[in-house]
Amino acid sequence: MVKLGVNIDHVATIRQARMAYEPSPLEAARECVKAGCDSIVCHLREDRRHINDRDVIALRRAINKLNLEMSAAEEIVDFACGVKPDQATLVPEKRREVTTEGGLDVAGRRSAITRVVSRLHDSGIAVSLFIDPSKRQVDASVAAGATIVEFHTGEYANAPSVSARRRRLDILMSVTAYALDRGLEVNAGHGLNYDNVRAVARIKGINELNIGHSIISRAVFTGIRAAVRDMIGLIR
Ligand code: PXP
Repeated sequence: MVKLGVNIDHVATIRQARMAYEPSPLEAARECVKAGCDSIVCHLREDRRHINDRDVIALRRAINKLNLEMSAAEEIVDFACGVKPDQATLVPEKRREVTTEGGLDVAGRRSAITRVVSRLHDSGIAVSLFIDPSKRQVDASVAAGATIVEFHTGEYANAPSVSARRRRLDILMSVTAYALDRGLEVNAGHGLNYDNVRAVARIKGINELNIGHSIISRAVFTGIRAAVRDMIGLIR
């Protein structure tokens, strides 16, 4: 059964729009768990534009499976090693991007990524690498010591035509099989929504989908429990 990780960053985005105390990412996370999701995901950005350090600490205390998205910056790695989320997902990060653009170039930054993976492992944290669905990046991830990868589904989600989307899906399927053969756990996410998620959820061997923006957007109208349940209904 495909698992669902709910990314709650944009609950914090609404809070930060007023620099206020509500809505609470922690309360949102609790609601998502009650609705049946398998993990809570949040991204501690270097600029702290939504989730902040206190959020992560509070989530760590309250949530059974916390997946912290993070860059490989030393300050963030130090923080993660102290807080010890269940899982860390290393993502590329640029200050001026609206959201994570593209996967981590593990092949191009092998030694730096290997060092960070090993530091996180030494702190007892499972490590996932957020990569584009490419065999080269899969090979580099194995070489860097990762046991989990998350494929960036943005190109699939944003494909300009049905045939282009089909091609992106084929790539996701074949690279998933390649990664599974190499012993990796395979997750996927980015840009997935209620219209495009089913085909990705059906890819053989996919373990977990991590979804944020579309769930929080729907929650504005339906409430977050219903939004999470609707998504679970589509992927399982
Ligand atoms: N997975 C990773 C690694 C991400 O960086 C993001 C975006 O924060 C997501 C999944 C979720 O993407 P979306 O908000 O488009 O569902």
